[in-house]
Amino acid sequence: MNPPSSIVILTGAGVSAESGVDTFRDKGGIWSKVDYRDVATPEGFARDPALVHDFYNARRRGMAGVEPNAAHAALARLERKFDGDFLLVTQNIDDLHERAGSSKLIHMHGELGKALCANCSNRHAWAADMATDTLCPACGSTGYMRPDVVWFGEMPYHMEHIQAALEACDLFVSIGTSGNVYPAAGFVQEAQRAGAHTVELNLEPSEGFSLFTEAEHGKATEIVPKYVERLLGARG
Ligand code: NAD
Ligand code: APR
Ligand code: ZN
Repeated sequence: MNPPSSIVILTGAGVSAESGVDTFRDKGGIWSKVDYRDVATPEGFARDPALVHDFYNARRRGMAGVEPNAAHAALARLERKFDGDFLLVTQNIDDLHERAGSSKLIHMHGELGKALCANCSNRHAWAADMATDTLCPACGSTGYMRPDVVWFGEMPYHMEHIQAALEACDLFVSIGTSGNVYPAAGFVQEAQRAGAHTVELNLEPSEGFSLFTEAEHGKATEIVPKYVERLLGARG
């Protein structure tokens, strides 16, 4: 394969697993302990906002002491060293990619560190636990504060930017995602339609495994750095 000129990378929970962040659908994953309909849907938030606040407060506190791993570092190095177009799209709401140095980054499912007021759409960083009486600093309302996370049934963020990058890329690499949730699970086909070479780097074959032109299975901290070095080496 010729060296690429435009790369899109998609990551999921598997890229953060070795940093100690739980995935969703692996054995013992988040959705085996909590029903996603209660904490990751607008209906769940309307039904019991305190339950949703408790869930995300715990996930935010659980990030204390969690560090980026070698896969995050390798992707930040690829962004720095690659002289073509580059975009990293993550489904993750943790901040490990940016803490590893990635900046050409889109959080399509939002960010755990941001709060969103459902009344006025103001977004701001949140550091203390969120509750139903949390005041919005912009509109002064209470009872509308939610994590700035895209829930099931809601549209992901920056989809136009992502679509444009997929249509222009000649290399698409999917890392640490089960390929269960759309629209992210369909990105491989959109890249393929653009003529891109598509690669899956995952612990095990994902739902969409057969759609990829190339696949490598193993731990992200092992296979991602090696893949990045091969890619940068190929560019000379
Ligand atoms: P979807 O159809 O895209 O995905 C539904 C997912 O729910 C499936 O992948 C399945 O794995 C999962 N699921 C179904 N039953 C489940 C169960 N009992 N326990 C755990 N998981 C279960 O969902 P959708 O409503 O069409 O979502 C579309 C939009 O929502 C997309 O834009 C997506 O980006 C967004 N989204 C965000 C989150 C989040 O938590 N940030 C989660 C999923 C989807
Ligand atoms: N190295 C590489 N891959 C790994 C590792 C690892 N150490 N550990 C787990 N994986 C892989 C699993 O094999 C699985 O395919 O990561 C994937 C994790 O899949 P999910 O738990 O379904 O997480 P993800 O694909 O990110 O979920 C997509 O669903 O619930 C929503 O919003 C949530 O963004 C999430 C979306
Ligand atoms: Zn507000």
